[in-house]
Amino acid sequence: MNTQAYSRILGSGFVTGEVVIDNHRLARVFDTSDEWIRERSGIEQRYFVKEGTATSDLGVGAAKKALEDAKVKPEEIDYIVVATMTPDHYFPGVGPQLQAKLGMGTIPTLDIRQQCSGFVYGMQVCDALIRSGAAKRLLFVGCEIHSNFFPLSKVGWDIVMGRSDAKIDPAELERNNNHRGVLVLFGDAAGALVMGPTEDPQRGFLGYSLHTDGQDMKTLYAAAPGFAYRPYNNQAHIDEQLFVPQMEGKTVFKMAVTKMPESVREVCEKVGVQVSELDLLVPHQANLRISAGVQKSLKLPDEKVYNNIQRYGNTTAATIPIAYDECMKAGRIKPGNLVCFTALGAGFHWGAALMRA
Ligand code: ACO
Repeated sequence: MNTQAYSRILGSGFVTGEVVIDNHRLARVFDTSDEWIRERSGIEQRYFVKEGTATSDLGVGAAKKALEDAKVKPEEIDYIVVATMTPDHYFPGVGPQLQAKLGMGTIPTLDIRQQCSGFVYGMQVCDALIRSGAAKRLLFVGCEIHSNFFPLSKVGWDIVMGRSDAKIDPAELERNNNHRGVLVLFGDAAGALVMGPTEDPQRGFLGYSLHTDGQDMKTLYAAAPGFAYRPYNNQAHIDEQLFVPQMEGKTVFKMAVTKMPESVREVCEKVGVQVSELDLLVPHQANLRISAGVQKSLKLPDEKVYNNIQRYGNTTAATIPIAYDECMKAGRIKPGNLVCFTALGAGFHWGAALMRA
């Protein structure tokens, strides 16, 4: 077994959007139901931000909690890495805004764009920055606001946010239904880790297995705005609602239940441990049925696989740090435990990261 550890997690924290949205609320603006959403995805509720809260604000909230947990002062942080597919603006990324809002001087910031796999990809990047000596106290944030993908009218928003008992206009309902398969799955949240070099060579990140296959990129993507068009944003994008993610759900499902276990096996083999030796698997929270499929494929018992999608929905780059924080606070991860993180998402990007807690 490779016993060389590189960097470790010193603290974690997370925040969600301010407003809890149960499935019944969504059923007022889509033809859907609590039963359909629970049965297909396991999701019972998710959180949405109030209008005016930006992705960087959620990131700041999670970062502050992680700093407190790690007992690290903001001025000690010397690098920020952020994973998000929903930045405040088209450019720059969220890193500069996080840094300014946290008053972290002129330390370097890096945004990475690997969607649902952002956190496992980012773990390798952060680990490498620490191992190379480029960073000693690193803040790694995954933050997302998905609710702003919803193409709702003002009345639609009032209904979803619980400010109105009105019925949705039938024409709007019909338009919304074009997106119901994807939009019922997501929530707004951020999770953060503080990372640093390990003093104990037995503890920390041990290895990674990361892959990308761009051939089926359009299986899951937001078509517009983008620089494939001149101009990059235009009225047709809005009329055709091309800013809402498009997804072939069944293909994504099959990829996830195949590639996530494959990458877990691969990273275990690279590091020289058996899958059965894992103490905990923290899968990206895309769908409870996907997690169940991954668990079955890896032959892991229930107590070794953590799920919380029921409460938060899919929060893309934030699912893994949120799950990690909950596991730590609940005592599900103990010193010395072998913990594996795995994800698959748009790109397709997928992979796994393995650490000794
Ligand atoms: N409510 C009610 N009915 C719906 C809804 C909804 N929200 N969405 C779709 N339907 C309907 C469809 O229109 C279809 O109706 P039809 O049979 O009359 O045509 C029927 O339900 C079945 O639709 P499918 O898309 O075939 O449903 P499926 O069983 O594949 O489940 C789901 C859809 C939940 C999206 C599933 O494919 C899935 O989980 N895929 C993985 C997607 C995922 O996790 N994406 C997250 C981003 S990527 C990631 O994080 C890995």
